[in-house]
Parts: sequence; structure tokens; C-alpha cells
Amino acid sequence: MIVATPSNLPRAVHGIYALIRQGHQVVASSEQPGALAAALREAGLGPACVEVVPHASGAQPLPIVEPQRRLRVALLGHGTVGTGLYRRLAELPDQFTVTAIAVRDVRKAERNGAPARLLHNECRLALSRPHDVVVELIGGTLPAASLIESSLRARKHVVTANKAVIAGRGPYLEVLAREAGVQLLYSASVGGAMPALETLRRHAGSVVAFSGVLNATSNFVLDRMAAGLALNEAVAQAQAAGYAEADPRLDLDGTDAAQKLVILARAAFGCVPQRLVQEGIEHVRDARGVRLVASCTAGAGEVRPVALAAGHPLASTAGAENRLLIQLRDGSTLSLSATGAGRWPTAEAVLADLYDVAGRAGLRPQTSGLGHAVGA
Ligand code: NAP
Ligand code: HSE
Repeated sequence: MIVATPSNLPRAVHGIYALIRQGHQVVASSEQPGALAAALREAGLGPACVEVVPHASGAQPLPIVEPQRRLRVALLGHGTVGTGLYRRLAELPDQFTVTAIAVRDVRKAERNGAPARLLHNECRLALSRPHDVVVELIGGTLPAASLIESSLRARKHVVTANKAVIAGRGPYLEVLAREAGVQLLYSASVGGAMPALETLRRHAGSVVAFSGVLNATSNFVLDRMAAGLALNEAVAQAQAAGYAEADPRLDLDGTDAAQKLVILARAAFGCVPQRLVQEGIEHVRDARGVRLVASCTAGAGEVRPVALAAGHPLASTAGAENRLLIQLRDGSTLSLSATGAGRWPTAEAVLADLYDVAGRAGLRPQTSGLGHAVGA
């Protein structure tokens, strides 16, 4: 699909990403191609995801989703991803209003740009402010899972990047969301900006197997180790870049990749494989050519470090990139890749889910308690 993009870069990025999530191959025509390509790269969408050209004949205007009215967001977490999301929402004050932000350390959040008037040091306090949707970005299983559960029971939409909660309790929470008539969206829990869930859902019923590099931290660490760094130095760099989990052992021992595999298996096959073998990269000594590969059929899943031949389609997955190969019944293979972790790619995936909530939800009229427009 060839699209002419608006000069507003954030809007152009959101619009292009929405098309990519729908499965379109996008060529973006722009009067400022360098700036647009840089904005897309920051959002985790490199040249493998979208081609940017200065002029393209036959380009159609980029469809831009305009929510019917401002969506009120209660934001739980203002860390790597939460900070990015808050800043993205601040660029869209006519579309989103953050009514509260929950953290543990209010002063740190203020230093990182969150307005004092929105901050609470307790999630339940933040959730007592008016909101249509809860964005859960605190991570971990508890209290995140119970906050998501009580929000759904209170008939609030929920967007989360939390793979631990969704892998462990996703089906239960989805039933709650259905019963409450609200949405539970979690695209950012797998693959950062890579539309892994969306693509597998579109092809559900036709998928024979999938395999991929699903953990950015271990991939980055393997690259750095292959370049001569010690494991602990490489992990410190991944933490500084905002790729690692709060406890990076979950990245290194394969837990994070296994949780993502479980979420993807449900999307592809409607069930979790009965056998799931997990091995991490902690014992890898010679990292050259090694990738942490997650592979899955309907019956069996496996996460383990594999020394790949140079020509293997996963071998060139670099740094914080994620890649997914989806093998279909007709013999064809789909290949996806994008930046799999970090502030901006993850925030972009959360934002895209928020647009989906705004677009799909029959939101109740906003009668009272309108919070401040972010950035206002
Ligand atoms: P993070 O940098 O550790 O930030 C966590 C935020 O949540 C901090 O603001 C922290 O507040 C707050 N928080 C934690 N526990 C809390 C509690 N009990 N009550 C109130 N606030 C609490 O984490 P992150 O990297 O942004 O990741 C957030 C989620 O996104 C996780 O589920 C992670 O797996 C997922 N994710 C992350 C990435 C990535 O690239 N980082 C990518 C995809 C998905 P304080 O700072 O005050 O403690
Ligand atoms: N820690 C995760 C990773 C974040 O490195 O892939 C993205 O889910």
C-alpha cells in the first residue's frame, strides 16, 4: 500500500504502524523522508518494516484514526515504557487525557517529567480518579494481575505490556473482559513494535509452526558477548538501554521468551503446547552465531540457545531486534521483524492498542471528572 503521509510526524508514525499491524506492506511517501524514516526507526520500525520514499505516484492519503472523543487514561507505571507512553500521549492532547499516574517513588517520576498533580504513590489511588482505560506498565505478577482484574470487573478497558500476567492468567482475564463488555489488549507484551500477535491471530487456523527471536535483551547480550564483553557487562548495557526486565534473570534464563511463546501459541493454535522446554543463555560461553530461539508447534514448544548457520533467517537478528517466522499450511513462511524492546517501540505498541480501544469501544459519554489534558 502506497500512502502519502502528513507533515505531523507522530501522526504519520501512528498511521503507518496501524497499517503494518493490519498486515499491509507499506510504502510511505513523504516530503521529509529523512525525518520520517528517523521517527519510524525510533518507534522500532526500520526499513525492513516500511519503505520511505520522497515521492510516489498513486499514493493515497494515509488513513488517520481520530477517536470520537478524548480517552481518559489512568497510567500505572512511569518507568522505561510508562515515561515514553506519557510523552507520546502529551503529543496528542486532543485525543488522550491522562487523569492519574501511579508509581512507588513520586519524586523520581517528577524528575522524569510526570506532573506532580497527576502522581500517586499507590495504584488504587490513581484508579480512584476518573478514567476509561487503565494502562498497566508496572510489571511483575502481583499486584499487576489483581489491578487488571479489578479494573476489568469495574468495566474499564485495560491495555498492558505485561507478559508475565498475560502468559499466566490471560485466558481468565479475557473471560472477565468479555463478561464486562470491555477490551483487554496486550500487543506490547510480545515483540515490542513487531506485530506478532496481530499477525498470528490473522492467520490462526493456518499456522503449522512459528519460531523466532523474542527476547531483545538476550539477543543484545549475545551480540555484545560475541564482540568480547563479559556477560555482566553486556547485561548492564541492556539495562541501561531499557531493554531488560526489572529482574534481568528472567531475560537470561529464557522465562521472558517462554512467556511470549505461550501468548503467541494461544493466538496461533488456541492452546498452550503440552510440552515446553526452557533453557536460557546463562551458560553460553562462545556466543558467536548463537541466538535464543523460541520455536513452537501446536503440541510442543522450546526456548533454547542455538548456534545458527550464517544463512539462517534468524541468524542476522541484531541487537534489540525481534524476528518471527510463521510457517503456514500452504507451505509459505511469513517473516516479521522490528525492534523488540526499549522505551519508544514499546510505547508505540501500547499507543496503538489505545487507538484500538478508542476506535472499537462504545465508550460511555464523558460526563464528569475530566482530567487535565497532558502537556496542558
Ligand atoms: P520499569 O522501568 O521497571 O518501570 C516500572 C514502573 O512501575 C516504575 O515507574 C515503578 O515505579 C512502577 N511500579 C512498579 N511497581 C509498582 C507498584 N507496586 N505500585 C506503583 N508503581 C509501581 O519497567 P518497564 O521496563 O517500563 O516495563 C513495564 C512493563 O512493560 C513490564 O511488564 C515489562 O515486562 C513490559 N515491557 C517492557 C519492555 C521494555 O522494553 N522495557 C518491552 C515490552 C514490555 P518506581 O520507579 O517508583 O519504583
Ligand atoms: N525484557 C524484554 C526483552 C522486554 O528484552 O525482550 C521486551 O518484552
